[in-house]
Amino acid sequence: MEIVRIGLIGCGSISDSHLQAYAANPQVKLTAVCDLNEERARRTAKQYGIDGVHTDYRQLLADPNIDAVSICTWNNSHAEISIAALRAGKNVLCEKPLCKTVDEALAIRQAVEETGRVLQVGYVRRHAANIEVLKRFIDAGDLGELYYAKASLIRRLGNPGGWFADEERSGGGPLIDIGVHVIDLCWYLMGKPAPVSVSGNTYRKLGNRSNIENFSYYQAADFDPSLNTVEDMANALIRFENGASLMVDVSFSLHARKDSAQIAVFGERGGAEIEPALSIVTEQHNTILNIDPQLTTPGFDFVDSFKREINHFVDLCQGKGDNLCPVDDGVAMIRLLNAIYRSAEEGREIRLDGEDAQ
Ligand SMILES: NC(=O)c1ccc[n+]([C@@H]2O[C@H](COP(=O)([O-])OP(=O)(O)OC[C@H]3O[C@@H](n4cnc5c(N)ncnc54)[C@H](O)[C@@H]3O)[C@@H](O)[C@H]2O)c1
Repeated sequence: MEIVRIGLIGCGSISDSHLQAYAANPQVKLTAVCDLNEERARRTAKQYGIDGVHTDYRQLLADPNIDAVSICTWNNSHAEISIAALRAGKNVLCEKPLCKTVDEALAIRQAVEETGRVLQVGYVRRHAANIEVLKRFIDAGDLGELYYAKASLIRRLGNPGGWFADEERSGGGPLIDIGVHVIDLCWYLMGKPAPVSVSGNTYRKLGNRSNIENFSYYQAADFDPSLNTVEDMANALIRFENGASLMVDVSFSLHARKDSAQIAVFGERGGAEIEPALSIVTEQHNTILNIDPQLTTPGFDFVDSFKREINHFVDLCQGKGDNLCPVDDGVAMIRLLNAIYRSAEEGREIRLDGEDAQ
């Protein structure tokens, strides 16, 4: 197999997770990095022993010695860079969310179709070992038909600020940033049913709560307390064609007693809780059973999941296997997220199969 020569665009916080995983894969040569911030790009290149350093992604894409790219930039540049990369003949791993708008998502899909290149959406949670295990149970029919799911990620104080808090660059707040992970995971486990309607609410009540003292939380490098144009929290009810439904609630700021995560799917023969650890619930001989699969890490293992995500991408670049996170799944999610934002704005249910559909 040919070594896959990788370029990485966007050397911020998440880039390390990509680079560490690439560095650990013997089929990869890390070839170049790019960031608008030259010093950051140089620091990253030095840390990983990478020769190519760019501040304009077009220069990186013009390098014929690069086969594939990881896109780890702000959400508002995902579409532009993905399309340019595909058209330059590169395979693409694009961080979540795929992009900001449905039009952008469709343009990316068109570029994938026209170029025949790989585009993998960065749905890292799909690659987690506990999800791979659960998927086997679901695919074997052990949970029966899944008809309900719950996707909840509550941060009481956790607006990262910087571009995350700038709607123009991010596309929104917790819904598009962390909601995308958990909605996608439930939807994937449910067998990707077609959504027919969404009813959503977004709230801007608490702001980024930068007034809070004596309580630390993750802040982007360019945190600016005066900048915050995104929602504090969002909730939604999503209905699917097969009658199944998904309840979502996510927040950056909320008067909650503690941070919490709940991701769960429920079927006719059994259910599964995914956070904080995989646990399967079923019934046998008139008895309810809670089954705890014995895994090295029964919860979400961040480092290991990135390793699996990157290894999957490298395999695809070498022509091995089927894309677990294809562009269509990114398009479907952007449609869904945008419909939730629209529902909240217009204060009504939005149909995805009828007159509201784009
Ligand atoms: N999969 C996950 O769990 C996960 C976690 C965090 C972030 N992300 C995603 O990764 C992406 C980056 O997030 P982050 O936390 O690393 O942000 P960050 O602000 O730490 O880093 C982003 C970097 O991209 C650079 N950049 C922006 N536009 C650019 C352009 N046009 N060309 C070159 N460089 C550019 C910035 O200068 C910055 O260094 C986002 O899309 C985010 O949603 C995913």
